[in-house]
Amino acid sequence: MGRLDKLYIGTNTKMYKTTSEICSYLSRLLALTRDIPDEILELFVLPSFTSLDAAKKTVKDSKLRIGAQNMGWEEKGAFTGEISPAMIGEAGADIVMTGHSERRRILRETNQDEEKKTARALKNGFTALLCIGEDMEEKEYGICDEILRIQLKTALHSVTQAQAERLWIAYEPVWAIGDNGTPASESYANERHSVIKETLRNLYGDKTGSDIPVLYGGSVNNRNAEALIRMPFIDGLFIGRSAWDAADFAGIIRAVLPVFREKRRRGT
Ligand code: PGA
Repeated sequence: MGRLDKLYIGTNTKMYKTTSEICSYLSRLLALTRDIPDEILELFVLPSFTSLDAAKKTVKDSKLRIGAQNMGWEEKGAFTGEISPAMIGEAGADIVMTGHSERRRILRETNQDEEKKTARALKNGFTALLCIGEDMEEKEYGICDEILRIQLKTALHSVTQAQAERLWIAYEPVWAIGDNGTPASESYANERHSVIKETLRNLYGDKTGSDIPVLYGGSVNNRNAEALIRMPFIDGLFIGRSAWDAADFAGIIRAVLPVFREKRRRGT
């Protein structure tokens, strides 16, 4: 089975759910998705650091994967307030997200910071979920594709082809995210995904580059999810608000799975 034979779908719960909230959310989500075979779904949730351990225990032998929303870029050291790869691994997470637009914009992380974090995550055996996306000004200047290439080439500068087999990308245009966001149309998102995939092939060769899952995120909801997944270059969805209720999230997963299977059946 190839990496892209599965539908990738996950959520980042940002700074919202406490440990007790995330555990009851995960228990419900597990119950609501238990019958879906592992081979067709890569389901993941990224809770806050303080909940990772309890979250992992809640989902223990299931298909649901737990990841961290961020990570310090050194192995250890005098970095007050940072969380090391070993700490995240010990808590049971096996995915690390880097480059979320809120970290870039609000916490002032740069492309170089994302490079250090992404490389460190992969070096430590995690799956790295690198988020990229243009902001509104960059979109208005018509330089989105250049921005995406810069974000990819910088963050992946030292990532080897072997490590790229554990890499996922989330395309999240900044203007599409959150309460004031407008979702990208499926054709706009698909065009950007095509540029991302071309860049990944240039970096890692046809086989490895084409196999890297590229997820769309930014105001995904139960009205646009199916149309997005129908697009040839969209391999999955990375969802915020619309996934924070377990029943809503399970509803989206169930709605998009047949669309995804049909797309793969047609060979696209
Ligand atoms: P949203 O968040 O789905 O609530 O727009 C997406 C994200 O921040 O990843």
